[in-house]
Amino acid sequence: MTADLFACFPAVRASREQMAEGAVLLRDFVGRTEAALIAALREIVAAAPFRRMHTPGGHQMSVAMTNCGTAGWVTDRSGYRYRPDDPETGKPWPAMPSLLRELAGRAAESGGFSNFAPDVCLINRYVPGARMSLHQDKDELDFTAPIVSVSLGLPAIFMFGGLKRTDKPGRFRLEHGDVAVWGGPSRLYYHGVAPLAEGNHPVMGPQRLNLTFRKIR
Ligand code: SIN
Ligand code: FE2
Repeated sequence: MTADLFACFPAVRASREQMAEGAVLLRDFVGRTEAALIAALREIVAAAPFRRMHTPGGHQMSVAMTNCGTAGWVTDRSGYRYRPDDPETGKPWPAMPSLLRELAGRAAESGGFSNFAPDVCLINRYVPGARMSLHQDKDELDFTAPIVSVSLGLPAIFMFGGLKRTDKPGRFRLEHGDVAVWGGPSRLYYHGVAPLAEGNHPVMGPQRLNLTFRKIR
């Protein structure tokens, strides 16, 4: 009887998908915070514009980046690391708005990780053709905290593999408003983003933004 009753309600939108043990995809988790989130991002980017950094090997990344929080992820000739200041301006990175911190905390909770307190949010901008090769997020000191990743704009194919670079990754389509959370057994899994396809998103235009929340200390 109860089951029949609930069967009358249409599924909201397949709300959750398991990518691996400890890794979940929360479809459209951004929901009603979309407009406030985009407004907050606009302010961050005005203070710390996107820039295309160089890898230690000297290649310029196709993805443009900026950060907010008490530190920011950077890469240049001397390596990958977190820095308290923006190397372009010498100023501290913009503070992480509470709206962002709370969204990340709620997503982590929903993914099974309580009390997530991110101190850094790396913001990536992809234009068509931009990609991110398989890598591990391992510049943080605390691997007990998960990574929370929020996608906005054009859809992307997210590749999520295993502990070895050679583990064959699964492919997951990340759309506007989707949030991925990975931690625990999959915290150090290799992941990446396939080259972004051409397109024009009704809200974000011809680009994709991705926010990854991390606890680095
Ligand atoms: C990242 O691994 O830092 C970015 C992931 C994404 O853009 O979805
Ligand atoms: Fe990553």
